[in-house]
Amino acid sequence: MSNRTLLTLCCLLALSLPTLADYDWWRSAQFYQIYPRSFKDSDGDGIGDLVGITQQLSYLKEIGVTATWLSPIFTSPMADFGYDVADFYNIDPMFGTMEDFDNLLARANQLNLKIILDFVPNHSSDECDWFVRSAAGEEEYKDFYVWHTGKVVNGIRQPPTNWISVFRGSQWTWHEGRQAYYLHQFLAKQPDLNYRNPKVVEAMKDVLRFWLRKGVYGFRIDAVPHVFEAAADKNGDFLDEPRNEYVSDPEDYSYLQHIYTTNQPETIDLVYQFREVIEEMNVELGGDDRVLLTEAYAPLDVLMQYYGNGTHNGSQIPFNFELLSNLNINSDAYKYSELLHNWLDNMPEGQVANWVLGNHDQSRIGSRLGTDRIDSINMMLLTLPGISVTYQGEELGMEDVWISWEDTVDPQACQSNPNEFERLTRDPVRTPFQWNDEPLAGFTDGPKTWLPVADNYKLVNVKRERGIPLSHLNIYKQLRALRDLPTLKRGDVTVNAVGPNVLAIKRSLKNEKSYITVINLNNDVELVNLDAVFAELTAELSYVVVSDKSLRRKDDLTHANSVLLMPKEGIVLATV
Ligand code: GLC
Ligand code: MG
Repeated sequence: MSNRTLLTLCCLLALSLPTLADYDWWRSAQFYQIYPRSFKDSDGDGIGDLVGITQQLSYLKEIGVTATWLSPIFTSPMADFGYDVADFYNIDPMFGTMEDFDNLLARANQLNLKIILDFVPNHSSDECDWFVRSAAGEEEYKDFYVWHTGKVVNGIRQPPTNWISVFRGSQWTWHEGRQAYYLHQFLAKQPDLNYRNPKVVEAMKDVLRFWLRKGVYGFRIDAVPHVFEAAADKNGDFLDEPRNEYVSDPEDYSYLQHIYTTNQPETIDLVYQFREVIEEMNVELGGDDRVLLTEAYAPLDVLMQYYGNGTHNGSQIPFNFELLSNLNINSDAYKYSELLHNWLDNMPEGQVANWVLGNHDQSRIGSRLGTDRIDSINMMLLTLPGISVTYQGEELGMEDVWISWEDTVDPQACQSNPNEFERLTRDPVRTPFQWNDEPLAGFTDGPKTWLPVADNYKLVNVKRERGIPLSHLNIYKQLRALRDLPTLKRGDVTVNAVGPNVLAIKRSLKNEKSYITVINLNNDVELVNLDAVFAELTAELSYVVVSDKSLRRKDDLTHANSVLLMPKEGIVLATV
């Protein structure tokens, strides 16, 4: 090596050293999703807002959150509660002002919390200026969306394809002004942007740059699999999608196999391009790394490509929905183990695992897997290697709230009917956050809330749970504290089902204590020989975290070869 190369290398090293410690902040981070409409209302209108979030950031600190991603806060007619963005560069007045957002960022910085925004690339609102101009045929914008004049059969005009919207009915809506159909994978008020137009790609990259320059640390990217549709043929036509024979309702999304409207290869490449923007901005702005979290309900092999392909980097955090999508109240320990292994065993070398147990679209943990398993699930989430993602309220054990058809507001349900809405509605998981036992759970000072507050708020709320040693909240905090230990941060993992009822997860690191999470999924008492499951345990193990199902207390000892588990008990043990 020449002297000059050596010198350059040393300089580079010296330059990068100060940031080195923080470089990997996200690799063992705790992410927390805030649904802004339902977190905290500061102005009494019954809808959460940015000032409310800013007021409560210290709570996020209290529960050890590293970064929080916010569902959309941008200007929107709220047809899909913000997932229909009318102005990608502004804050909706319902949530506050740009100044409120700047204050939120400033407060987050003081607390060393990172703010992540929701980026909705697939579509805009039909009230977005881009769409209005596109519909008017303005040269610059005419191909910003996917337009088609349809086909004429027996003299009657029909949509170009049979494609069905995620929210029911045709993906094509006729536009009188433009005299053409436009494509929308979701609501008619959410026209799909046309990613085969390079101007759209550039426009959306600029949106990323704008918010990164403001100081956000990255994005959760919405509905990624839907971004591209298969390319049109030389006549500009698309192909029909094949049927799913087991579904008979022709309006239902699952009536078709979405081979032309989801998971197109171009989508993966677009994620790589978004990552390049992130890297470009890391260079421009310096400081801690920015991250991408991608929302894709897709096959595992596709998800793994989101991480990168060896030549290109992609999303650091392709949301792992294995547990969220595939566990139910009857799943046994083999199923849990299989799903955990699915991610761990298929992840490309050098990448980091992430675990998502809830979000604003899916039934809550307690309602999905049983309220008596809430602590166990949080034990699993927080002792697995890599990144944990918690949806607001899961740390308290909030449950789905039943809401009648008359009171339902989620468009996914409202577009269906009284017989079907319960399967589709997402309102039950979006009810106001439960802060205390005052009226409306301390969420608002106003007279009403946009969705009802859960009946159980006097029992399940932050204030009360703070005072109960083995509340869901306090167990969550204990688990979170463990994550600062080197073993939990960097240790290896072994996952095993011990028969159908017991799941065991061991974390180990050289010269450090090992930690073993043991979960009894069932209602029988279980006696487990952990020596038969894991190598290199000490003869005795100590209790590190117990739950209210436990007979034992923290710091009690047990023999590794005979660990007694109460019905539905979850524990964390350590070698001694
Ligand atoms: C994502 C969001 C969901 C939204 C949809 C359309 O799946 O999580 O809430 O309705 O995209 O933007
Ligand atoms: Mg408000």
